[in-house]
Amino acid sequence: MKKKSNIACSEKTISESKQQPAHPCVLVIFGIAGDLTKRLLYPAICNLGRRGLLDENFYIVGVAVEKYTTRTFRAQMEKDVQQFVTDPADKKFGLAFLNRIFYIAGDFTDKNTYAELKIKLNKLEEQKASKNCLFYFAAPPEFIGTIATGLKNEKLLNEKDGDYFRRIIVEKPFGCDLASAKSLNQELLTYVKEKQIFRIDHFLGKETVQNLLAFRFSNGIFEPIWNRRYIDHVQITVAETLGIGLRGAYYEKAGALRDMIPNHILQLLSLITMEPPVAFTADYIQDEKSKVLHAIQVFTPEQVLHQAVRGQYGSGKIDSVEVPAYRSEKNVNPESLTETYVALKLLLDNWRWLHVPFYLRTGKRLPTRSSEIVIQFKSEPAILFGGAGKNIMPNLLRIKIQPDEGISLRFNAKIPGQSLQLGQVDMNFKYSDYFGIELRTGYETVLYDCMNGDHTLFERAEMVETAWGIIQPILDVWSALPPRDFPNYAAGTWGPKEADNLLNLDDRAWIL
Ligand SMILES: NC(=O)c1ccc[n+]([C@@H]2O[C@H](COP(=O)([O-])OP(=O)(O)OC[C@H]3O[C@@H](n4cnc5c(N)ncnc54)[C@H](OP(=O)(O)O)[C@@H]3O)[C@@H](O)[C@H]2O)c1
Repeated sequence: MKKKSNIACSEKTISESKQQPAHPCVLVIFGIAGDLTKRLLYPAICNLGRRGLLDENFYIVGVAVEKYTTRTFRAQMEKDVQQFVTDPADKKFGLAFLNRIFYIAGDFTDKNTYAELKIKLNKLEEQKASKNCLFYFAAPPEFIGTIATGLKNEKLLNEKDGDYFRRIIVEKPFGCDLASAKSLNQELLTYVKEKQIFRIDHFLGKETVQNLLAFRFSNGIFEPIWNRRYIDHVQITVAETLGIGLRGAYYEKAGALRDMIPNHILQLLSLITMEPPVAFTADYIQDEKSKVLHAIQVFTPEQVLHQAVRGQYGSGKIDSVEVPAYRSEKNVNPESLTETYVALKLLLDNWRWLHVPFYLRTGKRLPTRSSEIVIQFKSEPAILFGGAGKNIMPNLLRIKIQPDEGISLRFNAKIPGQSLQLGQVDMNFKYSDYFGIELRTGYETVLYDCMNGDHTLFERAEMVETAWGIIQPILDVWSALPPRDFPNYAAGTWGPKEADNLLNLDDRAWIL
């Protein structure tokens, strides 16, 4: 059935909240000359600025090793704005804001870099800039401890409660396994307090992800059936058509499991499965997310073999265009054993979710770009409809995170005609139909929240460690038993056949 119907919604039911500009601060970006800043951070700043959400005393100071001066760096940024900022109104703001950006050429390992930064911050303060600082570590992960030490030695991390703040923003990946995440947490917590740390995952800044809690806890019809009695299983897919681009060096060390599961995908899972928080505040929400992470069954080595699948793409076609194998990508070992695909079957040991499987999958060079959560409800007994009953399909609730953000509900309906025949129809809600399309990177919300000290969308130290603890047995087994069949899926296909078997063995299938 192709025809789609939209849910009726009155304009009056949607009231846009009026946001205030964030608290004034200086955003110090370590690694400002990198990919993250030009492609995602600065476009997000421009979007915030254009919407009046930055304080008039907001400045950026950037640090990187390249020998730019502030003048030559601004010239470079001007080109980046043209290339990466898509909305013309954001672009206008981005170009006008360039004279508020300052550049310090320095190595992260050199203590003079931090001395120079201190001088610059003092100078800006004399010119009315705020004493509040956000230190954004947009740098290779191995420098996190070094940068924190440099800042600490210059006493740049000391804050005065109620007077001014000093916060650090740490990018994902936070560590590369459980031990490194623990030691990074320990190290950072010797320099700053937990409330000064923002472990960022920009996936959580996406509207649809934030809408998950609103959807679950503001609609009376879903919560009563949101449990093992009515839900058969849940699928979470984060599929990318892209390969690894120029990030081969990073990806070779990370792989799909580390890159996607302990952060993006477990975050989605926790939002789908958590209990209602006592209130909609950071601590209460984090408490519930943390509890549900603790409920995830940690695999035994035996379970890793049966409930975790890895894959690596060979050459193939995406949208009819030939693309190379992972092993032929730039900065990738021609015999690489790094996985570009992972599928897992997780179970939760708690009252609400006992025996409900959660199938997770993510991969590069898959046929479509799509991030979505599918909740499959248990089927009705088909006895009423005679022969037509065989066409009854389970109800599906699909939450689309990207692209085409929205929610749809699939249900069975009678096909018009004299005989009784059943088919499936979708009730669709698309964000763009009601709220228009705003081009955003996902960093807008998380940056705005950091400026305001709101931790709701960020992870606490113990949450990061719990997430790494969940995947640590998989890392251990996979490193002890290197894959022998890589590459095991062609670019442009839905991953290795073992991923299909993971569900087929349970009489289920991936819902594409
Ligand atoms: N890019 C993304 O899409 C993305 C998404 C999520 C998370 N992240 C995370 O964000 C962080 C940055 O990623 P990225 O893609 O922007 O990396 P990148 O393109 O490699 O940029 C790294 C930056 O760090 C600077 N740098 C490296 N070593 C330095 C040193 N010893 N001293 C001073 N500066 C140094 C580089 O300076 P020069 O340019 O002057 O060499 C560059 O500005 C990483 O932790 C990454 O995992 C990135």
